[in-house]
Amino acid sequence: MCGIVGYVGDQNAEPILYEGLTKLEYRGYDSAGIATLKEGRTERCRAVGKLVNLRSALAETPCPGSIGIGHTRWATHGAPTLDNAHPHHVDGVTVVHNGIIENHASLRADLIQSGSHFASHTDTEIFAHLISKARQSGMSLLDSLRDALKRIEGAYAIAVVDESVPGQIAFARLASPLVIGHAEDAHHLASDIPAVLNYTRRFTFLEDGDHGLLFQDRSEIYDANDDSVERPVKVIDWSPVMAEKGGHKHFMHKEIFEQPRAITDTLRGRIQSSDKKVNLEGIDLDALASCERLVIVACGTSYHAGMTGRYRLEALTRIPTQVELASEFRYRKPILDSKCAVLAISQSGETADTLAALQEAERLGAPRIGITNVIDSAVARHCDQSLGTLYTRAGPEIGVASTKAFTTQLVALDLLALALAQHESRSGLDGVQSQAGVDLAEALLRLPRDIEALLDNEDDVLKVARDFLKHDHMLYLGRQAMFPIALEGALKLKEISYIHAEGYAAGEMKHGPIALIDETMPVVVIAPRGEGYEKVVSNLEEVRARGGKIIALCDDDDVELKNLSEASLMLPKASALMRPVLATIPLQLFAYHIADLRGTDVDQPRNLAKSVTVE
Ligand code: AGP
Repeated sequence: MCGIVGYVGDQNAEPILYEGLTKLEYRGYDSAGIATLKEGRTERCRAVGKLVNLRSALAETPCPGSIGIGHTRWATHGAPTLDNAHPHHVDGVTVVHNGIIENHASLRADLIQSGSHFASHTDTEIFAHLISKARQSGMSLLDSLRDALKRIEGAYAIAVVDESVPGQIAFARLASPLVIGHAEDAHHLASDIPAVLNYTRRFTFLEDGDHGLLFQDRSEIYDANDDSVERPVKVIDWSPVMAEKGGHKHFMHKEIFEQPRAITDTLRGRIQSSDKKVNLEGIDLDALASCERLVIVACGTSYHAGMTGRYRLEALTRIPTQVELASEFRYRKPILDSKCAVLAISQSGETADTLAALQEAERLGAPRIGITNVIDSAVARHCDQSLGTLYTRAGPEIGVASTKAFTTQLVALDLLALALAQHESRSGLDGVQSQAGVDLAEALLRLPRDIEALLDNEDDVLKVARDFLKHDHMLYLGRQAMFPIALEGALKLKEISYIHAEGYAAGEMKHGPIALIDETMPVVVIAPRGEGYEKVVSNLEEVRARGGKIIALCDDDDVELKNLSEASLMLPKASALMRPVLATIPLQLFAYHIADLRGTDVDQPRNLAKSVTVE
């Protein structure tokens, strides 16, 4: 996730573009840049790190002119370095891009073959080369853009300026957001409304396949068939605070609703549509598949992701997998060697305990791989460069309570399990290469739509939250892969609502926690149908018999369970394989609404930091 802006008008573009980028910093902040056109020349200024660094750089290298584009980056291809910062410039053509080009490797190889020289490791630079080549062959800027789009597979919102046509910005979008802002004497382009809200409240929301040209006094929009289209102009009356959160009350709420997009991006280009083969670019599967044991290290929510992922990893690959709290790991004198791979999971990639666990693994000679959301973060750097790091592509997570990072970690773990299961060294395993693998791949690809359906039921969750917000304690129960989901549900509730909540393996209830059950202790029972279902139902009966109030998280046609419960949170009909992710969504919403109704500081709960960089 990155942010892009564009401006064509009669004012000095640089401060307008810079201000727009400050409003998009939530989309990425590992580097930023601006390019403008002035008297047939491109002026470009870029800086690594937060936007303030760009401000200092602009003081040294200003970008004059009344047309320009800008970018704030959340790296997906190529480390956050100056060379990789946008805008990218090739022979008079300058491009900013938000999205992922799936076929970048083959396009890059073709371009290099035909004489192009690349200055960065980004996928975006491909756009600049393709458009520039088309321009040199005599095509108009619009046709050059179309020519490039035909070759690109993936997601994009792009803006392009060309020195030889100084009054136009070319743009296009597919699966990445892009809006046009219509001002009195100018046109703006942005990934999101807040970037432009100080200049206009009149917006056109571009649709997938839309592309065209922006001029100071007009916009030309064409659809995916290259037909000219009129898109409606909408007036947005959000307050600046609402705008920053995309109309949501809190970042956490926004991030819960971003999950279909975040998962789509995490899957993008990683499952081949023809044979459902998983392609994890940059990961050395040969080395990983040769390991005899896998040890996952992580903290908090990431630890819960690891616990959940273990079920799939062991079931599909039969590689013995253990999951360790990173904060405890190194104090136990762990037994590791070169045949035992250590997998660190961390949203931020900066958690001190997780890094210390990786250092211990390195000391003991174990191969190290990471799953993280931040390119070139410390976790990525502490992994074996030869084994690689698998990036979730959730985009920056601002709410302290982790939501989209967790579900994208689950997806990344499924991809890893599937890729290992499909590896030739495992070809003797039951069914994985055939139907089971295909089923899992298909379920993953359908997952964003299934989550959208769940998010549509938010009002039902809100109602249950209203009924239970006055309780001081809650118990969460689940079996098998639903056990870590119960832990995660309880963590979400406690960290943002300050209600004491415990997650338990349902089978453990009678070994202790059952003593707590009475009418003041609601119990969230995660009980979708499937393996272990009957056992969870009998746990639920045990709770009822002791006067406990049950909130059942169950299939939406499970009338029997609904009748046994005080309240229910529903799971839609969807693949059973995706239950861990799907069950997470109502639990996130439940915690969110209880916290919001109780009036806590949802995005920055007391005593907590987004990333824990001290032991
Ligand atoms: C969860 O909501 C928390 N914010 C916390 O448990 C978090 O998952 C943990 O600190 C680990 O962070 P990381 O994924 O960035 O390493």
